Amino acid sequence: MKEIYSPIVTMKPKHIQSVVQTHLVSFPGFFLSFLGSRFLMLYYEGICEAPEGIGLVYLNASGGAAGFVAGSSNPRGFYSRLLKKDWLKFAFASIGAIIRKPTVITRVARGLIHPGGNPLGDDVAGLFSIGVLPELQGTGAGKKLVLAFFQEALNRGCKRLFLTTDRDENDAVNAFYQKLGFSIERQYETPEGRRMNEYWIDLDNKDTPNA
Ligand SMILES: CC(C)(COP(=O)(O)OP(=O)(O)OC[C@H]1O[C@@H](n2cnc3c(N)ncnc32)[C@H](O)[C@@H]1OP(=O)(O)O)[C@@H](O)C(=O)NCCC(=O)NCCS
Repeated sequence: MKEIYSPIVTMKPKHIQSVVQTHLVSFPGFFLSFLGSRFLMLYYEGICEAPEGIGLVYLNASGGAAGFVAGSSNPRGFYSRLLKKDWLKFAFASIGAIIRKPTVITRVARGLIHPGGNPLGDDVAGLFSIGVLPELQGTGAGKKLVLAFFQEALNRGCKRLFLTTDRDENDAVNAFYQKLGFSIERQYETPEGRRMNEYWIDLDNKDTPNA
């Protein structure tokens, strides 16, 4: 039987470089982008290596990433475990950013010493990051990535999924998640003063769209 082509595959080390490039162009000016490409490489390598990491890539014609989504089937303490495991590499990778803006160190340290930042639960998954190349945005790639993420989280026994995104000047992204069926369950402000929406969706609800 002929294999059906799907542009979405599991994120592998060979995709990381193009995932990082896609991250940098889809999140200009965001914190992780400010930390630089070396830091992002370690971050996405960590997602690929961790048993609870979920990384998916939307491929372009040459097999690189035109989009990606990353998260975890065990979000509580994920960042802290990731940073602790490779703390020296993360420290070296962030030196440039720390020199440019010394206050970033407090935010990185918070991820390290505040393991309880993400919601707790055996059946909870977290979607941490999604990005699609600007030229592909609005073509359905983001939706396909989220639906594939739902399926992967369900396969791992997760029943609910959460994510956070900026509340202000972020109407397109908020509309995107609401259209996919997410609802806001909490709003809060980060120590840096960013107002955030925390979205949740029930993965096993019959009204939740599937891949
Ligand atoms: C957010 C993002 C991943 C969405 O991916 P995308 O490929 O552009 O979105 P899609 O084309 O799959 O759109 C899916 C649905 O959301 C809707 N949508 C997307 N942008 C929208 C907007 N600005 N306003 C209203 N609805 C919108 C689409 O109409 C579509 O609905 P449909 O299924 O009924 O047609 C992408 O725009 C992106 O990478 N943005 C920059 C990075 C970012 O901000 N990531 C999120 C951080 S939390």
